[in-house]
Amino acid sequence: MSRRWPIDFKIDFSPLLWIVHLGVWLFALWLIIDAATGNLTANPIQAATQRTGKIALILLSFSLACAPLSNIPGLNQFGRVRRALGLYAFLYASGHFVLFVGVDYGFNLRFIWADAAGKPYIWTGLAAWLILLALAVTSFRWWMRCLGKTWKRLHRLVYLAAPLVILHYVWARKGNLLTVSGDMVQPLLFGLLIALLIAVRISAARRVVASCIAGLPGSRIR
Ligand code: HEM
Repeated sequence: MSRRWPIDFKIDFSPLLWIVHLGVWLFALWLIIDAATGNLTANPIQAATQRTGKIALILLSFSLACAPLSNIPGLNQFGRVRRALGLYAFLYASGHFVLFVGVDYGFNLRFIWADAAGKPYIWTGLAAWLILLALAVTSFRWWMRCLGKTWKRLHRLVYLAAPLVILHYVWARKGNLLTVSGDMVQPLLFGLLIALLIAVRISAARRVVASCIAGLPGSRIR
């Protein structure tokens, strides 16, 4: 019996995918160059943590945007970059996490616990990262086959991870959603974008969008 590997080694030559790969690694290179040349503000660890966190959120938002975009005629390429964007979001979030626990706290669990205990933003970040970890691990075809229908349900957790990241962002900026106080402009803009992307996945809103798209020439939705 032939053995099936849990990882796909097929190479996809979609131009959009290559743009994603190139863009993501260029951002990493830019961060490394800034760190090596002392261009990361007076607090380089904090700046690097913020930058990796922001890029992870941007990539996560792009990956959520891929599903509705791929339904628009002529934009079906977006469906092929969704997984890569999700995996890169996880990669940047992991770098962000390692910068915090490793570089900032030297993996000292006692210090981390003492600091994290009173900071809910750390816990929301950790919850989001654990979801992204589960989705990244099970993103391979082999897991898709093993889990069957559960795979789809599991991967819907991305719609929980994204709002958790927004909450993490708001609290990290010491903002308050109820009184809309603190440094909230950027977290709120990202929050609006995520809310919109979740709304188009909710069936009622989806039907409206789908019926509009179905009217366009060349649409794949009927
Ligand atoms: C265990 C998981 C996580 C930990 C420990 C963590 C830690 C942190 C810390 C310490 C900050 C504040 C940096 C500062 O301003 O001093 C921060 C901010 C942030 N984090 Fe996380 N984070 C985690 C997960 C995530 C994930 C999964 C994402 C996105 C996918 C994310 C996105 C962000 C963003 C966007 C900011 C705000 C950056 C800014 O102020 O410009 N974090 N995080």
